[in-house]
Amino acid sequence: MSTNLNIEQLAIHEEQSDPVEILRVALEHFPNSAISFSGAEDVVLVDMALRIRKDIQVFSLDTGRLHAQTYRFLEEVRNHYDIPLEILSPDSRELEQLVQTKGLFSFYQDGHKECCAIRKVAPLRRKLASVDAWITGLRHDQTPVRASVPVVQEDTAFSTPERTLVKFNPLANWSSAQVWEYIRDNNVPFNELHRSGYISIGCEPCTRTTLPNQHERAGRWWWEEEAMKDCGLHVATPETSRPKPAEVA
Ligand code: ADX
Ligand code: SF4
Repeated sequence: MSTNLNIEQLAIHEEQSDPVEILRVALEHFPNSAISFSGAEDVVLVDMALRIRKDIQVFSLDTGRLHAQTYRFLEEVRNHYDIPLEILSPDSRELEQLVQTKGLFSFYQDGHKECCAIRKVAPLRRKLASVDAWITGLRHDQTPVRASVPVVQEDTAFSTPERTLVKFNPLANWSSAQVWEYIRDNNVPFNELHRSGYISIGCEPCTRTTLPNQHERAGRWWWEEEAMKDCGLHVATPETSRPKPAEVA
């Protein structure tokens, strides 16, 4: 358990591009860490982590609105790797209240944040209270906003005054092409939706396929401004990121 470990002391450079090395450091220093698996191409993290340790924690946020293909894929991953994939559900009372008052598609009128807060962020907060670090599939090439995501950071959004939560993004310096090369080379199972033109996959009503030359997240919350497209899972501000080596005294 290393909650008091200063992340500056971790032997990871910001330019580290080998996800397995980053995972190795994460799992070694933070044995109580969990992979946040969306049911898309971040499956590579599960495959890589299992090569390091067999008893990894993996969880998925079941918003209740995922594609049928994604639910099937979550079960495929559970069986293929023989892992106890943890499925987290929203609070039923909060959800019923939202749906009773605003219906099932309020996000098209009111924006997605309210629904995401109940279906994704609250269950995530609950899970993150039980771990010292979490591991995500964020990558620089996914969106301009993510271009500066560090490979390791303090997650101030989910840390509390009592405890610092650390967040690892082992794929930060990998491209989509590298992820898919790994999937093909290692026969990693993948979500069937990728065969039908989906690149970035979220909830069914909030995800659509992208056209040639569109950005991979253009199909997410397509009716909203680009700047609004975060779902609240990854809201750490730049100052929470690890300083560049030159900035460290
Ligand atoms: S997000 O805006 O929905 O978070 P994206 O789909 O690109 O963006 O996911 C980025 C990372 O957030 C994933 O690699 C994963 O670590 C985490 N994540 C997103 N959705 C889920 C989910 N439903 N369950 C678990 N983790 C998720
Ligand atoms: Fe709700 Fe859409 Fe957010 Fe899913 S992505 S939690 S359906 S607003």
